[in-house]
Amino acid sequence: MESHCRVLELVLGTLAIIHLVLAQDQHAGFISLDCGLPAEELSPYDERWTGLRFTSDATYIQRGKTGRIQANRESEFSKPYTTLRYFPNGTRNCYNLSVEKGRKYLVRATFVYGNYDGLNIKPKFDLYLGPYPWTTIDLQGEVDSGRVEMFHIPTSNSLQICLVKNGATTPLISALEIRPIVNNTYTTVSGSLNLLFRTFLNKSETEIKYPSDRYDRVWTWLFRNEWTQIYTTLQVNNLNDVYVPPEAALTTAATPTNTNSPLMINWTSRNVDNQYYLYTHFAEIQELRTNDTREFNMTWNGEHYYGPLVPPKFNGITVFSRSGKSCKGGECSLQLKRTNRSTLPPLLNALEVYTVIHFPQSETNENEVVSMQNIKTTYGISRISWQGDPCVPQRLMWDGLNCSNTDMSTPPRITYLNLSSSGLTGTIAASIQNLTQLETLDLSNNNLTGDVPEFLGNMKSLVFINISRNDLSGSIPQALQRKGLELYPQGNPRLCFSGSCLLPKPKPFPVAIVASLASFISLNFFFCTALRRPPFISSSVNVTNANPPVSSIQTNKRRFVYSEVTNMTNNFQRVVGEGGFGIVYHGTLNVNKQVAVKLLSQSSTQGYKQFKAEVDLLMRVHHTNLVNLVGYCNEGDNLALIYEYMPNGDLRHHLSGKGDRSIINWGIRLRIALEAALGLEYLHIGCIPAMVHRDVKTTNILLDEQFKARLADFVMQRTTRSFPVGGESHVSTMIAGTPGYLDPQYYRTSRLTEKSDVYSFGIVLLEMITNQPVIDQSREKSHITQWVEFELISGDIRTIMDPNLQGDYDSHSAWRVLDLAMSCANPSSTKRPSMSQVVVELKECLASENSRRNMRRGRMESHSPAKVSMLIDTGMLPVAR
Ligand SMILES: *[C@@H]1O[C@H](CO)[C@@H](O)[C@H](O)[C@H]1NC(C)=O
Ligand SMILES: *[C@@H]1O[C@H](CO)[C@@H](O)[C@H](O)[C@H]1NC(C)=O
Ligand SMILES: *[C@@H]1O[C@H](CO)[C@@H](O)[C@H](O)[C@H]1NC(C)=O
Ligand SMILES: *[C@@H]1O[C@H](CO)[C@@H](O)[C@H](O)[C@H]1NC(C)=O
Ligand SMILES: *[C@@H]1O[C@H](CO)[C@@H](O)[C@H](O)[C@H]1NC(C)=O
Ligand SMILES: *[C@@H]1O[C@H](CO)[C@@H](O)[C@H](O)[C@H]1NC(C)=O
Ligand SMILES: *[C@@H]1O[C@H](CO)[C@@H](O)[C@H](O)[C@H]1NC(C)=O
Ligand SMILES: *[C@@H]1O[C@H](CO)[C@@H](O)[C@H](O)[C@H]1NC(C)=O
Ligand SMILES: *[C@@H]1O[C@H](CO)[C@@H](O)[C@H](O)[C@H]1NC(C)=O
Ligand SMILES: *[C@@H]1O[C@H](CO)[C@@H](O)[C@H](O)[C@H]1NC(C)=O
Repeated sequence: MESHCRVLELVLGTLAIIHLVLAQDQHAGFISLDCGLPAEELSPYDERWTGLRFTSDATYIQRGKTGRIQANRESEFSKPYTTLRYFPNGTRNCYNLSVEKGRKYLVRATFVYGNYDGLNIKPKFDLYLGPYPWTTIDLQGEVDSGRVEMFHIPTSNSLQICLVKNGATTPLISALEIRPIVNNTYTTVSGSLNLLFRTFLNKSETEIKYPSDRYDRVWTWLFRNEWTQIYTTLQVNNLNDVYVPPEAALTTAATPTNTNSPLMINWTSRNVDNQYYLYTHFAEIQELRTNDTREFNMTWNGEHYYGPLVPPKFNGITVFSRSGKSCKGGECSLQLKRTNRSTLPPLLNALEVYTVIHFPQSETNENEVVSMQNIKTTYGISRISWQGDPCVPQRLMWDGLNCSNTDMSTPPRITYLNLSSSGLTGTIAASIQNLTQLETLDLSNNNLTGDVPEFLGNMKSLVFINISRNDLSGSIPQALQRKGLELYPQGNPRLCFSGSCLLPKPKPFPVAIVASLASFISLNFFFCTALRRPPFISSSVNVTNANPPVSSIQTNKRRFVYSEVTNMTNNFQRVVGEGGFGIVYHGTLNVNKQVAVKLLSQSSTQGYKQFKAEVDLLMRVHHTNLVNLVGYCNEGDNLALIYEYMPNGDLRHHLSGKGDRSIINWGIRLRIALEAALGLEYLHIGCIPAMVHRDVKTTNILLDEQFKARLADFVMQRTTRSFPVGGESHVSTMIAGTPGYLDPQYYRTSRLTEKSDVYSFGIVLLEMITNQPVIDQSREKSHITQWVEFELISGDIRTIMDPNLQGDYDSHSAWRVLDLAMSCANPSSTKRPSMSQVVVELKECLASENSRRNMRRGRMESHSPAKVSMLIDTGMLPVAR
């Protein structure tokens, strides 16, 4: 084993200088915090035994409450350890200490429970150094106090020490002490050194601390029966040794009483993987006769470790490990054995043992930490989770953030920042621009004022900005209207678009004109625009994001190679759906983005060229109520489309009662209907030429993680069934649609128009109202429209409504939706409303249903306040009642 003996033979002059500098600098950089010291008590104060100046921790942490150990136990501890700070709230609470990056520090934390709360519940919790787990503090044993210490080199100018709950008990801390030490001591191959024990071999039952130890290392006494104590009253020089063990520790030593036995120090560790670093300190402190020799070898777990060693007379030396040593099965044994020529037994004055802690996970990029800190300060954000490192550890990530989780050794970067509804005031913080890998920025629903800053447009990775519902003014910078950037500026009354300070007027697109235009416009001119309409005048409508983005032309969709498709689907392992055009697989993109991968069967496509045209077209379709395309693959015969994954299945599934929360109430059905209608409306009038979905049905209305409705499958319709050839749009070449939903006019004209979608949508509405099968041959009136017409004769809406609703709906809105559904499903296309009209009608129905629910909720609240968490309007499905 390699080890190293450190005997410094420095020139005396150098020594004197070092000594002088250290003497001057003894306090420099020391941080001594008496945690929980109340403001009214004297702070700072000089601690009685060490003379070190302790201050209250109040300016280093904003959280926690202060406490004091039980009075009858105060005499057991010196003053800094009698008060404490405890943290009933928050999972992680952090101290922020100012240190010098790259410098080596001793970091010590002390914990005394002392039944401060009178509950006798001793705590157990974790201690973190920044994002790194340091150790578990367990005060649940016999002794309810403890101390941990580490040598650590901070990687930035601030050091975060965090207490993290790991169970039900309340973390606490009594004192925090930070001492800079010289750089070239206690070095490791990698990692930091966590103190296991530091002892001087003495019977006296005392401790050595500052000022005896200039670095304020704490040395505890250790002695065994089989040892003999030796000591000297003479001076022992410790300054030849960079480790400068305190003189008080060197003036005493132990030798084995049986002079032929080795001197043994054994310990066991529960963690068998520990790597140990040993620092053994020696000085000959006996006046040896000329014919006497003291010489010994050191063994570590039976193997030669260092030697032979003759301790220098009245001069300290340190033998230390240069690399970590392990112990078999956690059983460690250090032995000092006299050599054959030694006339005296071995001796040991002091010993330090450390274990290595590795910090493999990188801290968040330092610049971004500073930016986040600035943002936090600028807006006075006081979220309890906003402490410590923003991104790591992942389970303690600040809320409202998401970070790139690449490999452990790369500092994470912030990719997502959501500060919506956070009560922000003032202007958009300039620090945001330093989050250079930010992709999503949500500042909606605050009170932000001032201009929309230019820099947002220059942040290359941004693809989504929501600044809606603030009080921003001025005009939107040109840079923000770039491709691939989705911007939601709605709800800022003083904000102007495109430099012109006039609010854009909604442009009606008469369907007839669009339809006739369609056949003349080639696909090269295909584009979709956002629909802008005056704000809907109803106080009680909550549609999940009904406003489409201003810029909907996305370019961040990607072409994938086939091997990437194989990889993202984990070799096509999980089938999530199957359609006429191929099988849909579950996939994962960039570790955490779920996607649905539709692998097109060979027969379903019309060749590469059309597929490509189709994809190009789809790339420009983007709406919050459509399942969006993430990318595609066209490598040889392998054609695949990659969509956003919709984790909550389709509407049919939920109506059938097979969903987790089996019953969708009437309000939620209306919201879903409205959202689907908005998606369809966008295809019809937001795109030029209009897109006809061609297969609107309940199984194509998918629900995203927020249960927001998204129309699916408007993709393959064109490619596979009636891809417009030579400008002959809307002419179907194959049978389209799904029986039952298909526009009856189609059979006569072979033409599918927007109104065909309206018909299908009417059928969807009927299904949502009645929960009847669309076609049921066993029913006398086999088609759902016939069945409804028949039931309508009775004039009783209850016989028509889905019995699962249990009568819990506003019959007025039910009638209105039923009328709407029937007019959509009118056999004559000219009598059907447009999707825009459907949207308006559904909004009003939803508003009336919501106001009914709010009234009822108000009534219920007065009776049973505890039971009213119905989540009606938040987009969540209620639990079956
Ligand atoms: C902290 O917890 C207490 C008790 O649980 C609660 O009353 C208090 O509001 C919490 N404070 C914060 C800031 O969360
Ligand atoms: C920590 O303190 C330093 C300086 O004392 C400051 O610059 C930094 O922003 C603080 N960090 C946090 C997370 O409070
Ligand atoms: C300690 O060493 C590191 C790197 O070796 C260096 O960056 C730093 O400045 C040194 N600090 C002192 C106080 O010498
Ligand atoms: C220490 O450990 C060694 C080797 O495991 C063993 O031989 C010795 O008896 C132990 N000594 C004591 C005092 O436990
Ligand atoms: C060493 O010398 C002393 C006298 O100076 C004598 O008493 C002792 O026996 C000698 N010891 C050995 C081991 O020779
Ligand atoms: C002490 O170590 C030296 C160097 O490895 C070795 O030659 C010698 O035999 C050892 N002596 C004893 C008594 O173990
Ligand atoms: C962004 O970071 C740079 C350092 O990289 C710094 O100089 C600048 O002040 C920061 N800007 C803001 C607005 O925080
Ligand atoms: C904006 O500020 C006003 C008055 O200060 C307040 O009433 C309103 O709730 C705030 N709005 C938001 C979204 O925080
Ligand atoms: C709409 O949603 C917001 C929050 O999402 C809620 O505060 C408000 O009460 C809702 N309005 C209605 C009418 O349900
Ligand atoms: C996908 O790629 C990643 C990294 O490139 C690899 O770790 C993983 O094993 C791959 N998965 C499959 C199913 O090939």
